[in-house]
Amino acid sequence: MLEIESLKQELKNINSEAAKIRDLPVEQRADFGKKINARRQEILAKIAEAERALLDIEVEPIDITAWSGVNEPLPEFYLTDMGSIHPLMSELDRVIKIYQMMGFDVIEARQLDDEFHMFDSLNFAKEHPARDGYDTFRTEEGYIPPAHTSTMQHRVLKSYRKKLEKGENIAVVVPGRVFRNEDVDATHEHTFYQCEGVYVSEKCTMGNMLGILREFFEKYYGQKLNIRTQPGYFPFTEPSLEFMIEKPKSLGGKKGDFLEMLGCGMIHPNVLKMAGIDPARYHGFAWGGGIDRLVMLKYGLDDVRHFESGNLRFLKEF
Ligand code: DAH
Repeated sequence: MLEIESLKQELKNINSEAAKIRDLPVEQRADFGKKINARRQEILAKIAEAERALLDIEVEPIDITAWSGVNEPLPEFYLTDMGSIHPLMSELDRVIKIYQMMGFDVIEARQLDDEFHMFDSLNFAKEHPARDGYDTFRTEEGYIPPAHTSTMQHRVLKSYRKKLEKGENIAVVVPGRVFRNEDVDATHEHTFYQCEGVYVSEKCTMGNMLGILREFFEKYYGQKLNIRTQPGYFPFTEPSLEFMIEKPKSLGGKKGDFLEMLGCGMIHPNVLKMAGIDPARYHGFAWGGGIDRLVMLKYGLDDVRHFESGNLRFLKEF
């Protein structure tokens, strides 16, 4: 931060120096102007770089050592005299717990990010229409409240690539809050939660990915499930899939009632390369899916808007 402050101060100094141009003889002005401008450009580039570096800091796993009975009642500390933990948060803890039991580290996503992490680092070509698919919000300064947790992939890959050099695998999940400029209705919210998964090793396959996902959903719903995939498209995976589960009978499903739960695929070589991982040597898969949808199915909820409503009658049901 300090570096940015002093660069900004330097920029101010240059700007006030530039005002002196008026006192110079006409023939010296062009040369003076050029020099000042060159210095100004140099400082502006340094400021942009320092701001980028700020957003690019290394990520560290969070340690959640709470209870481990994923399908058991919540422990006492989830209930307080003042109310209770929001159902999305307690269910998110169950989700995280399952992945932790499978050996995944947990990294929290951020709620404000930038163009590079939202798009460029994920192999979205500049001006590519796939960028429009995300109904992205932007702040006036050009920052982005992330439209998916995939914005964290680049940071995870970069921070964890040392593990690969030591012969270990990368296995990380990233829960986070995401934002989209949606027309809100019973199945669409502007603010919701996702959980991203990233796995990289020398020898992983799509079969491993489907095994992990099946295991996750069966643990979360506490029963065996039928799964199905269909081809999808994401610039950051090749091939890309949509992963579906058959709605269980116990949750009101009929045979053949398949629900899309998340997007996934083998991490695109360009995404690995940009994070400094050699795609000729290492392979990876990644996935990302909504938490709200997961919880709605579990509790038979028909309207996603309940979650952000603050309606006590709804919250007291949990
Ligand atoms: N980020 C995608 C979305 O929100 C979901 C997704 C697809 C995440 C494929 C991934 C992935 O990590 O590999 O629509």
